[in-house]
Amino acid sequence: MANRVVVGSQWGDEGKAKIVDFLTEYADLVIRFQGGANAGHTVIVDGKKFIFHLIPAGIMSPGKTCVIGNGVVFEPAQFITELEEMRNQGIYYEGRIFISKRASVVMPYHKFMDQLRETRRGAGKIGTTGRGIGPAYADKAARTGIRIGDLLSPVDLKDKIEASLDEKNELLVKVYNEKPFDAAALTEEFLRFGETLRPYAIDSSTFINKAIKDGKRLLFEGAQGTVLDIDHGTYPFVTSSNTIAAAACTGSGIGPTKIDEVIGVSKAYTTRVGNGPFPTEFDPELGERIRKIGGEFGATTGRPRRCGWFDAVILRKAAMLNGLDSMAITKLDVLDTLEQIKICTAYKIDGKVTDEFPDSIAELERVEPIYEIVDGWKEDTTQIKDLDRLPAKARDYLKRLSNLVGCSISIVSVGPDRHQTMLTKKF
Ligand code: GDP
Ligand code: IMO
Ligand code: MG
Repeated sequence: MANRVVVGSQWGDEGKAKIVDFLTEYADLVIRFQGGANAGHTVIVDGKKFIFHLIPAGIMSPGKTCVIGNGVVFEPAQFITELEEMRNQGIYYEGRIFISKRASVVMPYHKFMDQLRETRRGAGKIGTTGRGIGPAYADKAARTGIRIGDLLSPVDLKDKIEASLDEKNELLVKVYNEKPFDAAALTEEFLRFGETLRPYAIDSSTFINKAIKDGKRLLFEGAQGTVLDIDHGTYPFVTSSNTIAAAACTGSGIGPTKIDEVIGVSKAYTTRVGNGPFPTEFDPELGERIRKIGGEFGATTGRPRRCGWFDAVILRKAAMLNGLDSMAITKLDVLDTLEQIKICTAYKIDGKVTDEFPDSIAELERVEPIYEIVDGWKEDTTQIKDLDRLPAKARDYLKRLSNLVGCSISIVSVGPDRHQTMLTKKF
């Protein structure tokens, strides 16, 4: 009986949803615990593709229950769109999807402020997804946020929205030269959302803890990735939540003793979307080539993802911060055509070699990656079903990654479809 957490080990888009979809077979409840619609989680089953932003990927598996936990910042319109898309694709979700009444609501002014702030930052912009994530979490921390539970009670929603807008409207008018938001209109709109959401809203921590007592198996679906974590990532070029495994507890309301296993998803190379330092980034030509082969365009914004070599320094940091039991390595197939492959084993900063990830962004900007070069396998791996059948050089590559990170590999993925997945252990 295992309760598992799946997190991203890099800068997001590692293929978490594919791994979560695969592991849902061994779970009863699949739970999102942080982030919001900044996530773009792609699942492909028998050639049928679905991109989730808020709903856990577990919904693709009939009979499994999904929960959006208290740690998520929740955008009602996005959720309703996703339900509609599922209905259109014949995915039956009624009675299988629940939202925490304690989850924070992303309001239209959060999205607007996100976009205004990015524009104001100019060249120093973070490159956010524009989904209002930072402003929504800022309101939560400032205790001026709106929660799902608030949308269910008509009595005081207007007061809460007015309080939440109090400073913001002044800021919008005086600093940004924009129009203020109308609390009455928003109240009406969000009470309507409340009515749509009512059947899905629950006390999720009680629900999840009861499931544990009943012997149900939990699977936590992380969003973003370890170096996008607000505390431990490449601040300020990060998202606004804790993305590491520990957040599964705070973002769902269970104790750390209930987690049995943590799996870190990592690409066989690295990508990053948005701004900020990226030590192992490819030169433009190779970047273009891998972006094409790997389909490296953002699932949320469609932006081209920056691509680079596998960075063992980042993965060691991820193994430590998440307490990884194992790694799931995805997109091995994307390297199939390369003559030679580089692996970053350590960093040189100001002439000094280190195998640790620096905690200052200024130092990270000065990193010179130290590479080991290995031969590529130059064979198509996408149809391989058995790890022993992988080309010897591909197996050597995986072994080397595992040794450098100091963490075993439990899953190897050689294509986007659910069946293009191989295991080194039983789940
Ligand atoms: P997530 O945000 O971590 O869930 O990842 P995304 O869905 O944003 O991005 C991962 C992309 O890679 C998606 O388009 C997946 O369909 C695709 N993908 C996942 N695993 C593999 C793999 O092993 N090989 C290939 N070629 N594509 C993969
Ligand atoms: P998934 O779950 C990749 C990045 C943005 C930007 C920074 C801050 O699909 O892996 P935000 O909108 O969160 O304030 O943006 O974080 N970012 C992601 N990058 N995958 C994601 O999610 C991301 N969510 C946010 O590009 O650099
Ligand atoms: Mg993604």
